Amino acid sequence: MKKLMAANWKMFKTWDEAQATALELVDLAAASLPADREVLVCPPFTSLGAVAEVFAGVPRFFTGGQDFYCREEGAFTGEIAPGMLLDLGASFGLTGHSERRHVIGESDQLVGEKTAFGLAAGLSVILCVGELIEERRAGRVEEVLERQLRIGLAGVPRDIEPKRLCVAYEPVWAIGTGEVAGPGEILEAHAFVRKTLVAIFGDNANEMRVLYGGSVKPSNCAEIIALDNVDGVLVGGASLQGESFSQIVLA
Ligand code: 13P
Repeated sequence: MKKLMAANWKMFKTWDEAQATALELVDLAAASLPADREVLVCPPFTSLGAVAEVFAGVPRFFTGGQDFYCREEGAFTGEIAPGMLLDLGASFGLTGHSERRHVIGESDQLVGEKTAFGLAAGLSVILCVGELIEERRAGRVEEVLERQLRIGLAGVPRDIEPKRLCVAYEPVWAIGTGEVAGPGEILEAHAFVRKTLVAIFGDNANEMRVLYGGSVKPSNCAEIIALDNVDGVLVGGASLQGESFSQIVLA
């Protein structure tokens, strides 16, 4: 299974900035990318085309959307369809990022609809899950992860091609805070995610990638991706500069 080193640029970067960072990343990381790694960058919709153009023809470099809507087309002002992402050259889409859930207010059900729809439309999907700090303190981590996974994956066929479905465990309290989860916390959560995926998809789930996200940086990435059941990372802040993301990608 190839490790997926993924960047989420959130609401940062104009077209020109995105293009420059993508060029720098290819320059720094493409030639020396280990054979068992893939790179994904998820820019804002408005600069996705710039990154897709730079990555076109670069082996194992992919682009993705940070979100998408669960209809092919129609009167859905402000939304973007999976087909539109594919048309720009993207092959991945995120669903259920904590900022979509907790800032924009997306429900587990909507996240689940998007996940199933995106996969059916031909995208590879990274379903993001993770608990709030109050939920961790209350001992509810597994309950929250199980609910987000069960509802988030409810419409996904059991025989889905496993490399097209990833889960990112992103504890909300570790996102953008500099407070990375400890190895024990990551191991425990990832083992639970894997167990739940196996319960839903059977053996197929052993080929699905489970990524960690939350304050990943060049100095902690190697330790994190060496942990059991960690098949990649999803990086926010430290992915915005080509220099630091290339160090993560090659860590
Ligand atoms: P940070 O890497 O900035 O903590 O963000 C993580 C994240 O939300 C990736 O999706």
